[in-house]
Amino acid sequence: MREPTLTLTLAAADAAQTRAIGAQLAAALLAADPAEPLLVALSGELGAGKTTLVGGLLAALGHPGPVRSPTYSLIEPYRLAGRDIHHCDLYRLRDPDELEDLGLRDLLTARSVLLVEWPERAGDRLRPPDLALQLEYAAQGRVIAVTAGSVAGLAVLERLRLEPA
Ligand SMILES: Nc1ncnc2c1ncn2[C@@H]1O[C@H](COP(=O)(O)OP(=O)(O)OP(=O)(O)O)[C@@H](O)[C@H]1O
Ligand SMILES: [Mg+2]
Repeated sequence: MREPTLTLTLAAADAAQTRAIGAQLAAALLAADPAEPLLVALSGELGAGKTTLVGGLLAALGHPGPVRSPTYSLIEPYRLAGRDIHHCDLYRLRDPDELEDLGLRDLLTARSVLLVEWPERAGDRLRPPDLALQLEYAAQGRVIAVTAGSVAGLAVLERLRLEPA
């Protein structure tokens, strides 16, 4: 069977809109079957807005206050809305082998959502994501492309498509 692919492209004129897209994604994620862990990859160059989007997502799920960028801890766990959310930033991963020590793959269990910045650093140590977000600089703010990589991801994407910002 061919992998399902569908891309939704969203524009974010400013940081508030990036956060709003994160909040929309939160609602779409909650509609997904919690038994299936979801891996969400966030790609884009430095300062593209990955952490900003995650901040909007976590706030929408009830996280009070600012989001700590897991630049040094690499993983920041949250328990929100009945889900185990792990916000990861692999920018400082020196070698994909380090992922084994981090136990990232073990975090892909029921009720978990993994949000991974700089997933490229993991090489092939991380399975293909259910949803791949690509954030890019645009003349006005950013453009965010969301691509489904699995049936579960496709279901989330459909939700996102039905409720545009
Ligand atoms: N749509 C947007 N338009 C303009 N600025 C934005 C937009 N979204 C986010 N920003 C701003 O971009 C800056 C960098 O954002 P952020 O830290 O989220 O990037 P990042 O992709 O996580 O970077 P890094 O790779 O370093 O982790 C912040 O100042 C944020 O407010
Ligand atoms: Mg970041």
